[in-house]
Amino acid sequence: MTNDMKVWFLASEVAPFAKTGGLADVAGSLPNAIKKMGVDVRVALPFYRMVKEGNFPTRKALSRLEVPLGERMLQGDVLETATTEGVPVYFFDRGDLFDRPNLYGTPEGDYRDNLERFTFFSRAALLFARVVGFSFDIVHCHDWQTGLIPTYLKTIYREDPFFSHTASLFTVHNMGYQGIFPAAKLTTCGVPATELNPEGIEYWGKISLLKAGIVYADAMTTVSPRYSREIQTPEFGMGMDSILGKRSADVYGILNGADYSSWNPATDEHITNHYSLDNMNGKKKCKADLVKELGLPQRFVDRPLLGMVSRLSAQKGCDLLAQIVEDIVRLDAGLVILGAGEETYQALFLKLGKKYPENVAVRIGFDEALAHRIITGADMLLVPSQYEPCGLTQIYGLKYGTVPIVRATGGLDDTVQAFDRNSGEGTGFKFVEYEPGAFLDQIKDAVKVFEDRPGWMKLVQNGMQADFSWEKSAREYVSLYEKVKARATER
Ligand code: ADP
Ligand code: GLC
Repeated sequence: MTNDMKVWFLASEVAPFAKTGGLADVAGSLPNAIKKMGVDVRVALPFYRMVKEGNFPTRKALSRLEVPLGERMLQGDVLETATTEGVPVYFFDRGDLFDRPNLYGTPEGDYRDNLERFTFFSRAALLFARVVGFSFDIVHCHDWQTGLIPTYLKTIYREDPFFSHTASLFTVHNMGYQGIFPAAKLTTCGVPATELNPEGIEYWGKISLLKAGIVYADAMTTVSPRYSREIQTPEFGMGMDSILGKRSADVYGILNGADYSSWNPATDEHITNHYSLDNMNGKKKCKADLVKELGLPQRFVDRPLLGMVSRLSAQKGCDLLAQIVEDIVRLDAGLVILGAGEETYQALFLKLGKKYPENVAVRIGFDEALAHRIITGADMLLVPSQYEPCGLTQIYGLKYGTVPIVRATGGLDDTVQAFDRNSGEGTGFKFVEYEPGAFLDQIKDAVKVFEDRPGWMKLVQNGMQADFSWEKSAREYVSLYEKVKARATER
C-alpha cells in the first residue's frame, strides 16, 4: 500500500541484539511488520558490548562519522546487519560510550554519562542519514534516549534542506523514565539556550529528554489506548500530564503486538515439547521439566504453578507479590520468579525463596531461554503492576495457555478480559485496587477454576485463541506516519 515512505526507526534496545525489556521486543518486531506494508524502514541502536558479544554478521557501513558532543567532536563507526525479515539494522559504535557490561547502568544506579551516551547516539543517527543520503520521511523515536531527535529537527536542523520535510514521531513506552539531567548539560546536547523554558526542554529547573520528545515531536504515541488516556491524568502522568494535555490532539494510543515468530508454543526454539490447542500434551511435559529444573517437589506437576518474569522495579508490583508469598505457600501453589533490577527487590525475593524452598524458586538475572520456559511451563502468569504502559508477558502468557493474573491498569486492562465462570468468556483474572488482598483474591479464584478442569480448559482456550499479532497495530502506525508526513510536506 505504501511504497514511497521511508522511516528511520531509532531505539536504545532492539531484540535480538540488545534487550532489557519490552522496548526491545517492540523495536525488534514492529519494523518487520511495517516493512511488510511496503515501507522502507531502517533501524538503529548503539553498539553495546551485548551486541558485540552476539557476534551478528555485520559489514562496515561508515567509518569515522564526525559527531559533535558539546565542545568536542567525536568520531564513531557504523556497522550494518539485517533482521530475519531483511530490515537493515545499524549499530553505532563508540567503545568508550557503549562497550560496557550493561545497557544503562548497574543494579546500584544509572551510568553517570547516560546523557552523553544517548546524545551521541541521537545526533549520530541524524548525521549518518545525511552522510549516506537516506532521506527519510519520518524519524520514529522511542523513549527519552532519543528525545533529542525531534528537538534537533525543530531547532538546529530546522533550516537544513536535508531535513526540511522530515517529521518525527515519538513513542513513549514508559512515562517513568524521564531522562532528567542538570540544565547546565544543555550545551552538551547541542540544543540552543533559547529552548530552556517551560514550553521547551526545561523541566522544573532541569532538562528532561522525555519532555523534549513530547514537546517537539510532530505526534506522540504510547503503547496502549488505556495508557494514552491515563498519562493525561495527574495519577499516571508522572508530572507530565499538563504537558501532554497541551498536545492531546497529537497523542495516540497504539497497542503493542506480539512477535509470534519468537513467541509461539508450536515453534518456540527455547522449548523442547511444542504444543497447540489441538494437543496440549507438550505443555504438561514442559511444566514437568520446569518443576524438575527449579528443584520444586514433584507434586507441583499437578498443583498450580504461578510464574512471574519481570524487571524488578516498583512499577511491576514487586512489593505486592512479596506481601502475599506466604499466602501462596498456604494455598500449596508453586511460585517461580525470574527477574533482574533493583537491588532491594532482588534481595527481597531471594530471601523469600530461601524461606520457602518447597514452594518458591527465585532466579535473579536476565535469561531469555528461561523466560520462555517459565512462560511455557507455568499455569498462571502474574503481572500485578502499579502501572503498565502495555506489558508483553501477559500477551505471551495468553498464547501459551498460561493464564494471566493482572492488575487492571494500562495495557494489562486492554489485553486481558476477566474470566466469567457462568458464560465461560474471558482470558484471565484482574484486580483493580493496588492492594495485596485484592491480588490474592484473584489468585484464589484462579486456583479454584484451575481445580475445575473443564472450566480451566475453556479459559486456556480463550487465551490461546486471542490474536495480538502486529498487523493491526502496524497498520495504525503506518497511517499515522502518512498523516504526519502530509503535515510536514505542507510546512
Ligand atoms: P517492560 O518492558 O516494562 O520490562 P514488558 O512486559 O513489556 O515489560 O516486556 C518485558 C520483556 O522482557 C518480555 O519479553 C519478558 O519476557 C522480558 N524479561 C523481563 N525480565 C526478564 C528476565 N529477567 N529474563 C529474561 N527476560 C526478561
Ligand atoms: C515499557 C513498558 C511496558 C511495555 C514496553 C514495550 O518498558 O513498561 O509496559 O510493554 O515498554 O512497549
